[in-house]
Amino acid sequence: MNVIIRPALRAIATVREDFPILSQSVRGKPLVFLDSAASAMKPRIVIDAMVQAMETQYANIHRGAHWMSERTTEAFEATRDSVARLMNASSREEIIFTRNSTEAINLVAHSYGRGVMKTGQAVVISEMEHHSNIIPWQLLRDDYGIELRVVRVTDSGELDMEHLAALLADGRAGLVAITHMSNVLGTYTPAERIVALAHEHGAKVLLDGSQAVVHRQIDVKALDADFYVWTGHKLYGPTGIGVLYGKRELLEKMPPFMGGGDMISSVTFERSTWARVPHKFEAGTPAILEGIGLNAAIGYVESVGYEAIASHEAALTEHALAKLSAVEGVTILGQAQDRGGVISFTLEGAHAHDVATLLDRSGIAVRAGHHCAEPLMQRFGVDSTARASFGLYTTLAEIDFLAETLGRVRAFFA
Ligand code: ALA
Repeated sequence: MNVIIRPALRAIATVREDFPILSQSVRGKPLVFLDSAASAMKPRIVIDAMVQAMETQYANIHRGAHWMSERTTEAFEATRDSVARLMNASSREEIIFTRNSTEAINLVAHSYGRGVMKTGQAVVISEMEHHSNIIPWQLLRDDYGIELRVVRVTDSGELDMEHLAALLADGRAGLVAITHMSNVLGTYTPAERIVALAHEHGAKVLLDGSQAVVHRQIDVKALDADFYVWTGHKLYGPTGIGVLYGKRELLEKMPPFMGGGDMISSVTFERSTWARVPHKFEAGTPAILEGIGLNAAIGYVESVGYEAIASHEAALTEHALAKLSAVEGVTILGQAQDRGGVISFTLEGAHAHDVATLLDRSGIAVRAGHHCAEPLMQRFGVDSTARASFGLYTTLAEIDFLAETLGRVRAFFA
């Protein structure tokens, strides 16, 4: 089996053909899938890579002396090279595989928070974090005496940088953990400025790139991020595999997260020693097939190209903002200058769940609820929103259909 799987360069106009699931109808209507921020659809090449591995070459990795294990190890480890290349990491040892972004953040909260930070230091998060970038820090605060500080979000849905500066001013923050793109507002945070400001005040930075990595090329060296996390299933890859990038000198200082097979150098009942990074943080059999699928997804995204993806999605977002705000009764949350294709909205007189249910009757899939960001809902004085989110396969016609259908939903409730 080829370890690196790349399709020929694809034109954005033809990418829909690569996603078998998108060609189906729902109750006689074409599927309009506008929930990619929750989980993206998978191109054929990802599906094939995983099936091919199961059909032709599969064994546990890092263990067997037999050829099947060696070949599967090569295929899995090739993904680490692809991730390092994708993010411009200095070395493959800086890439740790986790189950998802949530596990990656928990790993940092445990191993950096409890293992390197000192009681009395602070962690700075923001009002626009997903619960996965709130709860691990609350657990750290409650167990370990770390203070939790929260940066305000402005009315336009941007990070209040002056407030961030104020929260860093006393030099007690050990870590700033902030999203690179809000899963609710679509806002891109000014990651380079956040990192520079935090470093000036002696704090390290974790960026949650779960949404951002799908839409923009991430360069951890240019950002100078200390930790950067994301998840495979939003980047057109499988569920069950996520990524933690960490600067090597930090990873070396951090104790293991979970204990078990594959993360050790030697074991006795008296004392055990750890494998080198990244394996020190990868206990147990990893998500082997998912890792192979992720490599195919990365190859796919690279073959379409971030430039093409970004310009396609910028056009979609501009169109969607104009179309949706023209629907009577629709209010869009957040008007950040730098934003991507995630649009949350409310419809006057209708609960978000009812809006989503009626859209679903027309074959349109959107997410409704608090989007795992309850504090942000409270910040904007709502209990839920409907959210349309785009992928590289989303079309302008789908957005027109959403706007038209929303108009009918509005008429129904009015
Ligand atoms: N974090 C994912 C979302 O925003 C599940 O929908």
